[in-house]
Amino acid sequence: MQKTLVLIKPQAVKTGLTGQIIRRYEEKGLNLIALKMVNPTRQQLEKHYEEHEGKIFYNSLLETMLSGPVVALMLEGKESVTVVRSLNGATDPIQAAPGSIRGDYGLEIEHNVVHGADSIESAKREISIWFPEYEA
Ligand code: TYD
Ligand code: MG
Repeated sequence: MQKTLVLIKPQAVKTGLTGQIIRRYEEKGLNLIALKMVNPTRQQLEKHYEEHEGKIFYNSLLETMLSGPVVALMLEGKESVTVVRSLNGATDPIQAAPGSIRGDYGLEIEHNVVHGADSIESAKREISIWFPEYEA
């Protein structure tokens, strides 16, 4: 069974979307195998988003992610990486299809509700950042 990592972003946690978002993944048939609310450190976020260092949106991305607690989820199921990316929808909520999580909640790319790991390797790396106590 494949595992993946989701972060529910601060704005979505603040506006009370956590339960609805978790329900989307569960209704699809993914198993929630770990969950925690975390106040991310800058160091965790720099590691999490290392591929984006130097891009124009990098600093505002980090500040946005530091603006409140995030909810980290570990989900397991068949092709969970792809399934989560599909449920999340396109990065830009304007482009994201209605019915996807990003398509249904909000308009701003900086507040696009959720993060989902983009590959099995990313999922492993990100699980070690957010669930360091978890032994794969
Ligand atoms: P990216 O990894 O490209 O998207 P995804 O989250 O779909 O894997 O970008 C990471 C985050 O950076 C994205 O969720 C929101 C933010 N971002 C911006 O604020 N502006 C941008 O132009 C892009 C591409 C991303
Ligand atoms: Mg990405």
